[in-house]
Amino acid sequence: MIIFKSINRLNKEVNFKANIGFVPTMGALHKGHFSLIKSSKKKCKKTLVSIFVNPSQFNKKNDYKNYPRNLKRDIKILKILKVDYLLIPKINEIYKNKKNMKIKLNKKDKILCVKYRPGHFEGVLAIINQFLINIKAKFMFLGEKDYQQIHLLKKFIKSKFKTKIIPCKTVRLNNSLAYSSRNFLLSKNEIQKASLISNSVRSFYLSIKKNFRNKNNINEIKKNIESKRIKVDYFELRNKKNLSKKIDKNNFKIFIAYYINNIRLIDNF
Ligand code: PAF
Repeated sequence: MIIFKSINRLNKEVNFKANIGFVPTMGALHKGHFSLIKSSKKKCKKTLVSIFVNPSQFNKKNDYKNYPRNLKRDIKILKILKVDYLLIPKINEIYKNKKNMKIKLNKKDKILCVKYRPGHFEGVLAIINQFLINIKAKFMFLGEKDYQQIHLLKKFIKSKFKTKIIPCKTVRLNNSLAYSSRNFLLSKNEIQKASLISNSVRSFYLSIKKNFRNKNNINEIKKNIESKRIKVDYFELRNKKNLSKKIDKNNFKIFIAYYINNIRLIDNF
């Protein structure tokens, strides 16, 4: 595995004419990332992973400070997974060109996490913009746990870059809680608590699939979760293609964002 500490150097040394798969990450790698890497290795000739904890996508300073980091372990794992290239860029290089970092979202997109994490997705779009200006990968692999991220990035890069996004299925712990780097911040008990929420959201999803009218129980289910002293940012049903509120039996998804002991988790079914 070749490790690059600068995008500039990577850009000079990697042949992007070859079929290259790009897996952007913020490190603290887990099984969700492993599955993205495996998909890339299957589809592409070479796989490039990036690790960059992007400050501009954190809307709270403490969240950025406390975000799990374990670079040594990550590098070890990436070598075992036989990743070809690893990019660990420096903050200075990324934020050198401020012009590329100013990105605005449409009013229509101000839903779900956009509403609750001001500035977050602007930061995500800006860093991916910065990457794709140099990294001319054929495919970029992203996990469906961050469904809204995929939705916004697809729209954003469509007219700007040739890179195609490949959404990959959410990987779950014991078929329940979605893998997330933030899970490293949870105790065993908290993981269990979060798993119960995943299970209840999944059961709700299945009950709607069985009988669409069950969607009307949404407030009851939300209250039930909140009664366990869990703060819920949102719990909503949305169209799985365009995230509008127009849903029917075959095109809906449930989205949730909630806190376990100040750690914000998201999921969708
Ligand atoms: O999903 C993530 O880990 C991040 O938002 C991403 C796509 C690597 C951008 O920093």
